[in-house]
Amino acid sequence: MKENPIGIFDSGIGGITIYKEIHKLLPNENIVYLADSKNAPYGEKSKEEIIKFSIKNTEFLLKKGCKIIVVACNTASTNAVKYLRENYSVPIIRVQPAIKPAALNSKTKTVGILATKGTLKSDLLFETSQKFAQGINVIEQIGEGLVSLIESGKIHSSEMTNLLYKYLQPMLDKNIDFLVLGCTHYPFLIPQLKKIVGEKVTILDSGKAIAKQTKVILEQENLLNNSSAKKMQSFYVNKHPEILQNFLDDFHKGFIAEKLNF
Ligand code: DGL
Repeated sequence: MKENPIGIFDSGIGGITIYKEIHKLLPNENIVYLADSKNAPYGEKSKEEIIKFSIKNTEFLLKKGCKIIVVACNTASTNAVKYLRENYSVPIIRVQPAIKPAALNSKTKTVGILATKGTLKSDLLFETSQKFAQGINVIEQIGEGLVSLIESGKIHSSEMTNLLYKYLQPMLDKNIDFLVLGCTHYPFLIPQLKKIVGEKVTILDSGKAIAKQTKVILEQENLLNNSSAKKMQSFYVNKHPEILQNFLDDFHKGFIAEKLNF
């Protein structure tokens, strides 16, 4: 079981930002990544649909023998993880927007969160804000259109720049000092975001925290892979494999995006 892979899924290529951190922290692990790009964006779908896609993704990864599932999608984490945990026996890790560290460290007592509609409207996000951000002005902004642009390879388009200014300027006007990225696709935008928000605003994403959490759970369950055999990294996607391939090429030549009919 220890040599079985870690399974990671997202509504698309965003979870690659989580994959990178997991792979960096746990280079000894086999990993299977699944991008359900055909059904992205999840953020615009109903809770029932998000649960249905999450079940399908989980079943796929379990068939690949995965020993743990990382839901590398905030929208699926906030809407479907409860169901997955109740119905599958493998450990299920979820991502969570970094509201707590932002709220704890904010000097202006004003933080911004950019996420999908599905995440911002979820009970889990509401509960997290209630629990950790008392007395903090949390400015929520739906990043409508951002996931679709990233999924179609238009990260550096003028359309993207215009949307980012539109979403961030009102937060800057209210003097945020932290910007929480509540969607795993958004860390791909960090260079552009930095140019817009400047040095006074700290941008937080959840990649490193999720990688650490994955390691802790594997240790607890005695599932860490100690074998020195060559490690397998597999990437599956059900739409536009060339876009995922571009992202993979950016950080590791030789990783292949495989097209799935799924
Ligand atoms: N990466 C997903 C997330 O973290 C994107 C959601 C979507 O497909 O709308 O929420």
